[in-house]
Amino acid sequence: MALASRVGTARVFGRVLLPTLAKGVIVRRPGVLAFEQRVQADEAAIRTVAALRAEHGPGPVRLRVPGRSVALVVSVEDVVRLLDETPEVFAPATAEKRAALRHFQPHGSLATRGAGRRERRRFNEEALRPENADWERAVRDEVDLLVRHARSTGVLTWDAFSQAWWRVARRIVFGNGARGDEELTAELGALRADANWAYLRPRREGLRRRFEERVRGHAERGEAGGLAHGRAVEDVVEQAPHWLFAFDAAGIVSMRALAVGAAGDEPGSVSVLESARLWPTTPVILRESTRETSWHGEVLPAGTTFVVFAPYFHRAHGDSYRPDLWPQGAPGVVPFSGGPAVCPGRDLVLASAGLAVEVLREQLVFRKRLREPLPATLDHFALELEVATPEDVMPRAHAGRGD
Ligand code: HEM
Repeated sequence: MALASRVGTARVFGRVLLPTLAKGVIVRRPGVLAFEQRVQADEAAIRTVAALRAEHGPGPVRLRVPGRSVALVVSVEDVVRLLDETPEVFAPATAEKRAALRHFQPHGSLATRGAGRRERRRFNEEALRPENADWERAVRDEVDLLVRHARSTGVLTWDAFSQAWWRVARRIVFGNGARGDEELTAELGALRADANWAYLRPRREGLRRRFEERVRGHAERGEAGGLAHGRAVEDVVEQAPHWLFAFDAAGIVSMRALAVGAAGDEPGSVSVLESARLWPTTPVILRESTRETSWHGEVLPAGTTFVVFAPYFHRAHGDSYRPDLWPQGAPGVVPFSGGPAVCPGRDLVLASAGLAVEVLREQLVFRKRLREPLPATLDHFALELEVATPEDVMPRAHAGRGD
């Protein structure tokens, strides 16, 4: 029977789930990520899942959690089934996710069940089409400034990249008028830090209301060029917090793609996908069954929480940079999830982050790239990508003029 022993369960908690939680599920914690990079925590996590699979077969492997049914998915075919049968059989809005998301997006599609979810999901699918925002202008303007900054300092740091990327995100979501609204990002950041604690922190109603009013202000402007343009204000107020939040992941994935360096002349979108395979920003995908389900001859009760640890499935395709895997991808490689609840922002991310990566690669000469095998845990906060400065590029011209 695919039931983990007490020791096996303790290992899954100690090496897979707690380290993932500690890193921060909603907003990453720099100190913890630095530590986990030092010990390469994801390596141990992947090994733990592999050992369970070897011991128990295709699973899902039930964990011994008092009073709850929790199962770790260990087969590619089960990942595919879980995502394909979402949301009817497997609800994305698990108790944990709702507890986390209520801090800053209590009405978000991902936190909603039933008929309400259908409408909110449809709204997101429509609103997030790339043609609804002038992402190209936003990316080109902000990356241009970033390139100048990196050339003058000789380094592209996460801090500089992330400031530029947040300006891109605010412009894509709300138009140019939101470009400089750093308070919007800061308030969201504080709420996300609370969301990391899910049930364990009370909701800060005052801050959440202030943030919501700020979002409403931008939604009411409805500026052309932003996703909020032409949409009902209430719908934007409910869903846009997720959009802003999720652009952070797109920035992280882009910065890591730059650190890896291009292998050939693949499009930026392919590098973004591959970066998200190597270091998925949603490392744990959760689903809760709405009815009894049968798996490899074993029945699991309704209300079972299914846990997919994505790095285990992603790294089955190796620890090197594999642009050849994309754009088609491979079964079980699910950085944007999959099936009917696939990330509705995927195309917009691939367009905007893909362009940012492409332009930065064109405009900057990166001196180093990460060595293969690529590390299982990569702390993006600490990335400092050295770039050639104008003096490096043209030393002879100066010398020739006798300076
Ligand atoms: C690299 C960037 C991104 C990655 C890797 C990513 C990945 C994902 C994943 C894995 C999910 C499923 C979560 C789950 O089932 O619990 C998801 C859901 C979602 N994403 Fe993204 N995402 C990214 C960026 C974005 C952006 C920029 C937006 C919006 C502008 C967005 C909008 C959404 C929404 C609305 C959902 C919820 C869908 C639902 O309720 O069915 N995402 N994303």
